[in-house]
Amino acid sequence: MPSLRFSPGVTSSIISIRRASSMAPPKLNDPSLFKQNACYVNGEWRAAKSGKTFKVNDPSTGEFIGSSPEFDVADTNSAILAAADAFPSFRAKTGRERAKLLRRWFDELNANAEDIAKLITWENGKPINDAKGESAYAASFLEWFSEEAPRIYGDTINSSNPANRIITVKEPVGVCGLITPWNFPAAMITRKVAPALAAGCTVVCKAPAETPFTALALAELAHRAGIPKGVVNVVTALDNTIEIGKLLTTSPTIKKVSFTGSTGVGKILMKQSSDTLKKLSMELGGNSPFIVFDDADVDAAVAGAVVSKFRSSGQTCVCANRLYVQSSIYDQFIRKFTEAVKSFSVGNGFDEGITHGPLIHDRAIDKVDSHVRDAEKKGATITIGGQKLPNLGANFFQPTVIRDMTADMAIATEETFGPVAGVFSFDTEAEVVRLANQSDVGLAGYFFSRDISRVFRVAEALEVGMIGVNTGLISDPASPFGGVKQSGFGREGSKYGLAEFQTIKSVTFGDMGKPLQGKL
Ligand code: SIN
Repeated sequence: MPSLRFSPGVTSSIISIRRASSMAPPKLNDPSLFKQNACYVNGEWRAAKSGKTFKVNDPSTGEFIGSSPEFDVADTNSAILAAADAFPSFRAKTGRERAKLLRRWFDELNANAEDIAKLITWENGKPINDAKGESAYAASFLEWFSEEAPRIYGDTINSSNPANRIITVKEPVGVCGLITPWNFPAAMITRKVAPALAAGCTVVCKAPAETPFTALALAELAHRAGIPKGVVNVVTALDNTIEIGKLLTTSPTIKKVSFTGSTGVGKILMKQSSDTLKKLSMELGGNSPFIVFDDADVDAAVAGAVVSKFRSSGQTCVCANRLYVQSSIYDQFIRKFTEAVKSFSVGNGFDEGITHGPLIHDRAIDKVDSHVRDAEKKGATITIGGQKLPNLGANFFQPTVIRDMTADMAIATEETFGPVAGVFSFDTEAEVVRLANQSDVGLAGYFFSRDISRVFRVAEALEVGMIGVNTGLISDPASPFGGVKQSGFGREGSKYGLAEFQTIKSVTFGDMGKPLQGKL
């Protein structure tokens, strides 16, 4: 396998680069998990009525992986009807019964984790070890919500009227439309489907066109786990994506839509949902600040920045986008951070020792490149990386660190969604909190400090939905995931993630008599 060391941008850069190998398709232990040309509807594998399919390519090599059905509105409507038919009997199951089904799905996923990881790397490009991590992360949502399902309780509430008694009942919202992204082809599906099923809902999931095969393999595992027909339906499309989004947000049968994706698309889906007043969860774009104060453990902050910024080559909604480092430790941080990035190995995610894979497609590369060129033009300095890697493949970009960033540069206001760390300098706590909050979006934020009063002060002041203090990794099924401002609303994971798929019904019992008084 060809491999080369190179010196892009600056002569000190020695990120190891491996040419993306022209891989043979990964051998799955169970080849029947690779579902081509069929979507999962009403417990069966179905082609699009039109017979149309779309092609999926490997982002590392550009080679053809396989084809998936181009479902249209009528095909998707049949999935909605299947979910509606399945709803009455599924909601009638006890929480314990639903828990057992989710647990069996969890077991199936774990038993096939290696194959799921291979599918993720194949169609998303992330290194195989990261993909194994994602498979475990995906399974953790099935486990977490299998444990929540039997513990769905309402309240008993004291009435204002002494003759009345009030109880509340938590009910499943109904048929749900789930629209998931390509950056976590497995975990973003289970993070939505698992709480929906725990609550007693049935779902139609529109899988992303870039990564349909992981989603379809998960559907096969749901089938093997004994999830009843119609409860989980997975549809795919490329050209008809907008029409399917419209159907899921306007169909009166769908009672809830959960979407992960860009703020722009989220706004369109929300508008479309207004006529039928759907319950919504919107997990949208971020522009996460990552702050290092001068009282921080700098090595820990560097390690946190590496994981927060460069996880999945910068393609997560919670990736650090704007790094702010206090001026007195700025040079030290830049030196150590640049050193850490030198140890990365970029290449095909299936190859041994690769730490960072490709971006998903050429549009992502163009955006990343434009952010780097913009910063360079406005006076910033690249300390490592900064270039496309055409020798590796069309979708590769060097992991990049840029210093001397200023507020007029695109990275200050736009989410890069790629492996570029723009590092700004700041002087005071008040200044950096103001800068961090100067954003329309507020998904995640991170900061490093060992001053306990500052930790509380800054955590309370940052306008984001999730904060990592002295850590760059906050993802956990136990923790509520979601944003504020134009990063959307609703929470995934945790007990709050379950509530998104429930409605609360109050039952008031009248004429119950007054409480007994006096001596009994
Ligand atoms: C996302 O990018 O939306 C998910 C990231 C995560 O769960 O860690």
